Amino acid sequence: MNPAVAAPPTLDSLWMPFTANKAYKARPRLLVSAKDMHYRSDDGREILDGTAGLWCVNAGHCRQPIIDAMLQAATTLDFAPSFQMGHPLMFELADKLAGILPEGMDRVFFSNSGSEAVDSALKIALAYHQARGEPQRCRFIGRLRGYHGVGFGGISVGGIENNRKTFSAQLMPQVDHLPHTHDLSHNAFSRGQPQWGAHLADALEAQVARYGAETIAAVIVEPVAGSTGVLVPPVGYLERLRELCTRHGILLIFDEVITGFGRVGAPFAAQAFGVTPDLLTVAKGLTNAAVPMGATGVRTSIYETVVHATERGIEFFHGYTYSGHPLAAAAGLATLDVYAQEGLFERAAELAPVWESAAHAMRDLPHVIDVRNIGLVTGIELAVRDGQVGARGYEVFTNAFHEQDALIRVTGDTIALSPPLIISEEQIHDLMARVRRAVESVS
Ligand SMILES: Cc1ncc(COP(=O)(O)O)c(C=O)c1O
Repeated sequence: MNPAVAAPPTLDSLWMPFTANKAYKARPRLLVSAKDMHYRSDDGREILDGTAGLWCVNAGHCRQPIIDAMLQAATTLDFAPSFQMGHPLMFELADKLAGILPEGMDRVFFSNSGSEAVDSALKIALAYHQARGEPQRCRFIGRLRGYHGVGFGGISVGGIENNRKTFSAQLMPQVDHLPHTHDLSHNAFSRGQPQWGAHLADALEAQVARYGAETIAAVIVEPVAGSTGVLVPPVGYLERLRELCTRHGILLIFDEVITGFGRVGAPFAAQAFGVTPDLLTVAKGLTNAAVPMGATGVRTSIYETVVHATERGIEFFHGYTYSGHPLAAAAGLATLDVYAQEGLFERAAELAPVWESAAHAMRDLPHVIDVRNIGLVTGIELAVRDGQVGARGYEVFTNAFHEQDALIRVTGDTIALSPPLIISEEQIHDLMARVRRAVESVS
């Protein structure tokens, strides 16, 4: 691991994202280097990474082939415009990504983040219906407890109250939400997909009856909701949603920013669950998070419909200066090579049973009201303390970092664990032991 880097002289200037700024600055947590399964903190501790950074460093940290590819790209072609111009790496990466996307999804639109990939997907859905002569299909249906990034599109279709309330006066119109599938009276301590809840997809029928199918452009869901605490789809739920969307001519968008690249034991959740959407968003693991990049995978027929609807000139008025940036494209290519060469998606599937039993062994801990899991991800839900949502979870998180040398993630009072896919069996048990001590430390 690289030598420690000096802490910054002041923390004042930075407004930190999704952070309790005052609490953080009073007791900072600084990461200064990383290698494989570990971070190093500014006070020289080795921190076991239980979250693959932020659900993104699936191949482990500072992987040499990815670094080499980025160095090569940075010294060869720093930047090339992507509007009316191109460079080889962006085409190569699109092709390679299409190769692992679900069948029939052979077109790729690049962006720089999950939020942008979602915005791009929503716009593509609108463009598609317009090109087909159904411009009135412009309503979107998201799902409660869904997270689709922080653009106005993403927070509108997303279902997280805290992310919406400050901006509620200006959210996208014509959006509604399906119910979420989390109900501990039916689903507590499910291993893998819960048995109960497929019928909740039928809420889409009610939306269709209410608004008319001919007004609905797309439904967007995370196959496994990550940011609101690892909500695994009930058996049959995604199939039902697919069937209803097909029946009513509604596009189905899977937001796979978290579930992509092996997290659930297949390249994408679409393949793990055997349900193919029409559009699929990715980011994070696409470059192993070594450099920002997002992408929207698109059914070939959607691309062709939009592109052929315009006789001459630009067919889709959307894009980013850095769509397919050479550095990100190089990192993406090297990352997909590492995943393939090391069989990391298969590895996640192989380790999943070990992960599952290690996670469910936590159910005897104080305050634990649920453990749920799929692939290499688990949610451990703690009871809310005295109506103070998130207080107990935050204490577990800070104890894990400061006292147990483990990076975990909490969302409200749910601990969400999603380690790099290179984790060993021994490290799985070590991680769970650290989490156990952190949970035991709080009242
Ligand atoms: C499912 C999902 N969609 C979109 C996003 C937004 O990605 P970004 O933070 O790269 O904009 C995230 C981020 O966690 C996510 O989990």
